[in-house]
This record gives sequence, structure tokens and C-alpha cells, in this order.
Amino acid sequence: MASVDAALISRVVERFGKDPQRLMDIVREVQGELGQFPQEAVDGIAKALGVHRVQVADMASFYSFIDRGEKARYTVRLSNCVVDKMQGMDEVTRAFEKALGIRCGQNTADGVFSLRQTSCTGMCDQPPAALINDLVVTGLKPADVPAIVEALKQERRKPGDAMLFPNAEVQLNLRQAGPVVLGPFENGSAIRKSLALTPEQVIDELNKSKLRGRGGAGFPTGMKWSFCRKAQGEHYIICNADEGEPGTFKDRLLLTEAADLLFEGMTVAGYALGAAEGLLYLRAEYAYLYPRLEQVLARRRRHGLLGESIAGREGFSFDIRIQLGAGAYVCGEESGLIESLEGKRGAPRDRPPYPVQRGYKQEPTSVNNVETLCCAARILEKGADWFVKHGTRDSTGTKLLSVSGDCRHPGVYEVEYGITVDKLLQLVGGEDAQAVQVGGPSGACLAPKDYGRKISFEDIPTGGSIIVFGPQRDLLKHVLDFTEFFAEESCGWCAPCRVGTTLLVHKLHKVLEGRGTASDLPELKQLGTTVKMMSRCGLGQSAANPVLTTLQNLPELYRKRLSDKEFIPHFDIAGAFSEQAAVTGRKFVDHEEAHA
Ligand SMILES: Cc1cc2nc3c(=O)[nH]c(=O)nc-3n(C[C@H](O)[C@H](O)[C@H](O)COP(=O)(O)O)c2cc1C
Ligand code: SF4
Repeated sequence: MASVDAALISRVVERFGKDPQRLMDIVREVQGELGQFPQEAVDGIAKALGVHRVQVADMASFYSFIDRGEKARYTVRLSNCVVDKMQGMDEVTRAFEKALGIRCGQNTADGVFSLRQTSCTGMCDQPPAALINDLVVTGLKPADVPAIVEALKQERRKPGDAMLFPNAEVQLNLRQAGPVVLGPFENGSAIRKSLALTPEQVIDELNKSKLRGRGGAGFPTGMKWSFCRKAQGEHYIICNADEGEPGTFKDRLLLTEAADLLFEGMTVAGYALGAAEGLLYLRAEYAYLYPRLEQVLARRRRHGLLGESIAGREGFSFDIRIQLGAGAYVCGEESGLIESLEGKRGAPRDRPPYPVQRGYKQEPTSVNNVETLCCAARILEKGADWFVKHGTRDSTGTKLLSVSGDCRHPGVYEVEYGITVDKLLQLVGGEDAQAVQVGGPSGACLAPKDYGRKISFEDIPTGGSIIVFGPQRDLLKHVLDFTEFFAEESCGWCAPCRVGTTLLVHKLHKVLEGRGTASDLPELKQLGTTVKMMSRCGLGQSAANPVLTTLQNLPELYRKRLSDKEFIPHFDIAGAFSEQAAVTGRKFVDHEEAHA
């Protein structure tokens, strides 16, 4: 190896048991030490693990937080989420560019700063937000930027030190706590109640509660656990804390305020599934929560709520490991997440087999959202009969909503399922909304005519993201932003998603720039439907939703931008060949025209 310390590599690789499945941790740690991830590190890790260097390079190239470029002491990642942009991220970006003397996407010549854009950082209730290495900085204003840059240049304090800037404080923004998820909870109570039942009875209780997954797809949790338990092998429970859907931050609140409840839910799942190990996949943007979560795990071990003989039950051993991600939205998709947990790129798998049959390490695995696991703990603590008293017939319990955008009170709300969009808008102070994006970009964009509809699995389902668009917004621009997000985050495996999202972006540009004609709208619809129907995983299957739902619910957005000129197909063939004609010195002759 040229400049990379071989001893460092072998120390890190040894620390993770020379296990290729821990490649993510190894790469993250080496990058942390070196400030970048150069080719020498790829070669060194491959040699120390005994794997081909392509395996390491392939994995590292997939994640946006693994930097194969030039070394920088501080990487500033500016969130380019729609909500951050709505609240002034473009001006903040220009202020950083000015203070650093570089354009976004570049490094300073002295190797101190790298300025980048990144997808939603999960801080839409306090935008515009950025990450400086692992430090979250929120509520940025252009005027703050010179002082931030100066403090870092002078190394007065290190990033990671929350006192560095007044903005380096993540607000909780809990606006409304409901009785179900955020009601008072006694540690250990759900585990003790579960241990008084058989694992099958625990699953029956979940079935009775009609709990459905809170991560977006809404699959019945009891049924998922039952399939997993019945499959032969070593079982695993994975908590999906990837929370990458733009506009979502409710899991951030649970991880901060209700980590005990979450770990209790994972432990109940461990008992019900017969699993000895649970894994919490934590998105890289929430790395600041990692030390606190480890402290909670350590306390629970001390109190006998994790480890051997949990709550005094001989033979019931279960523990939890936290895996940090490295910046890839598609890793929220459960099979992509499992690939990532195994130290690979996070490309979704073909299904079947489903994770409950063959998931982590090809063993039966249940992947559940943070909020789902919190609900499971509460159901075991208080009983299914108590749970079903909340919500509607088919959407039992409550839902945590992350509300952001043009409203007076952005933050997290625990609401009863069945609440209308109208009522929600009154609650959050967004009564004059021209549209509401329910479920993030992969959900639906609703027009005022739909505000009487109910948030529930039977009407408008949502993983929890609610973005309010006020009357002053150019909504079509945000449809483009959302579509660009999907194009950027596509893992590239299948053509309908990889190519289709880019074609959608091109078509939207055409309409936005006033070059679209009436025939573009059915074409947009057809293209969007093809992307939806033909893509391999949930990312591609929902990538056209911003276009399709606005075409359906707010067609005026498009119509008013169309050019009234009739579209006459035309191609300037002489112009296209002008360079070749100049180089060869020959005149281009259009034979068709000459014979006409
Ligand atoms: C692109 C994509 C991103 C996703 N991101 C998340 C996520 O961040 N958190 C989550 O719980 N589920 C996410 N999901 C859904 C998961 O695949 C899976 O359905 C969920 O974790 C299951 O948990 P649940 O049954 O408790 O809802 C995502 C799905 C897709 C297609
Ligand atoms: S739909 Fe998109 S994200 Fe999913 S596998 Fe295909 S290319 Fe990858």
C-alpha cells in the first residue's frame, strides 16, 4: 500500500472479526480515520478480509457517505429535500459557496472542506439542515454561514461538539403525544406480559390487535411474525430505522424519546420469533443518535432486559446490535436493507423468497419499522382489546405523522387513524394549503377537493410524511424535485426505473420550460404507468407517483404551462451534421429534400 497505514487496516478488520459481512463498519471506520476512502484502502481491506477487491469497491461505490474522492477534513452535506429548498436552502448553498470559494460538489484546494448535496436528512421540521461530518446543523440562515466556516477553519471546536454552533441542536418538535405510542410506559412490562404467554399466543395477540406495518406497505404484523416463526432456521428481527422518505422524521423522535419502547418491542419480537439476535439499521444521517442508543442498550443489559435469561426467564437470550448505514434511500426497502446489513451494496433482491423465508444471512427474518415495534410493545403491555379501541375498524391504533412545509406548527403528531386531511391542516396551521403531499414523494399529492378524505389504510395510507404546500408555491417545480430524487436514488438495477425516472425528469423540464404541448400529458401518464408497473422494487413502483397523482388530482398545473403551438415533429439533420461537414470539408446534402 502506498499512503494508507496497513496497521490501521488490519486493526479495524480484526476489530470486526475479519467478517466480510461487517464490511460497512470496516469501511466507515477506515474512512473516519483517513477522511476519505482511497483505492489503497480498498486493496488493503480486500487483502485483510481475503475477498476480491471488486467486492469492496462495489460496496463502497454504492453509498453517498463513502467518499472515494479527494480527502477533506470536513464534509458539508446540504439537504436538497423539497422542504429544505422551500425554506431557503438555495440561498444557504450560495452562502457556503461564497464563504468557501468553491461550487457545490467541489473540495477546497487545501483539503479542508468538501461541499456536497445530499437527500433529505430527516430534519424537515427545522429546515434548512445540513450535516458537517456527523454533526447535524438545523435552521440555517445564509448569515450564519461565514461564522460556521470560520470556526471550522480555525478548529476552535471539532464537529461532534454540539456547542460549535447554536444551530447544532436537533429540536424534538413533538406537537401532540397520543395515548398509544407516546403514552406512559414502564420498562420491562411488555416483556413480562409476553413471557407469561407462549410465543404463539404473543403472535395471536398481535393478530387480534390488527396491527399493520407503519413503514409504508401496511402488511399485518402478526401475520409477518407468524410466517417468520414457522420458517425453518435461525430467526432474526430487524428494525428498519432508515427513515429516508423525504418529509419523514417521526422515527427520529421515537429513537430519541422512546428507545426503550422500541428495544422492548424488538425483544418481544425476539421471543415471539425465537430469535437470539436483533439488528437496528440506523440511517447514517442519524449517527448522532448512536452513542445514546448504545447507552440505552447497555442500561437494558444491566437491568436484565437484554442478554442472557431475560427478565429471569431461563433459556430466553436475546441481544441487539446497531448497524449504521451510509446514505442510500433504497436501503429502506427491506431486501436492500438486508443486503446492506450483510456488507454489500443495498440493491433490492428478487422476491420470492421473501425475507420471512430467507432474509438476513438467508435465514427467516422479520423486518419492521420503528413505530410498528413500538406499537407491538404497547399491545403486549396493554392488550389487543385496548389497542383496537383506537383508530378505525381496519386501521387500528394511532399514527405518528411528520408534518412539514407551509404550516405554522411543523413537527410530530400522534393522531387517531381516520383523521381527515382538513382536520389535520387545522391542527398544524396549514389551512390555506394548495396541496398536501401525503406519504412523501412515494405517496400521493392531494388537492383541496380531497381534504375530506381520511388518513387510514382504507382511504389514504401513509408511512408518516405530510408536506404542506402553501398557495405561493410553484408545485410543478416540486414534482420535478421529487422525480429527480427518485432518479438520483435509483439503484440502477432495472431499466424501467433507471431510464424511466430520467425520462420523466426530461419531460417535466420540457413542460416547466413552456415547451410542452398537449400530446406530452398522455405521454407523461403512459411513461409514469410503465415505470410503476414494470419496476422491480417499491422505489421504482412509486417513483412516478408525484407525476401520476398530480396529473390526476391537479391537472391544471400542467395544462397552464403547455404551449398552444401545435407540435410538428422536426429534426434539423443539416445542423446535426454541421460539425462533420466542417471537419471533412464536404457539404451535407439532404437527398430527400433535393428530390422533393
Ligand atoms: C424505497 C423504499 C424505502 C423504504 N424506506 C423505509 C424506511 O425508511 N423505513 C421503513 O420502515 N420502511 C421503509 N420501506 C418499507 C420496507 O420495505 C418494509 O416494508 C418495512 O420496513 C416493513 O416494516 P413494517 O411492516 O413494520 O411497516 C421502504 C420501502 C421502499 C420501497
Ligand atoms: S426499481 Fe429502481 S431501485 Fe428498485 S431494483 Fe429497479 S432500479 Fe433498483
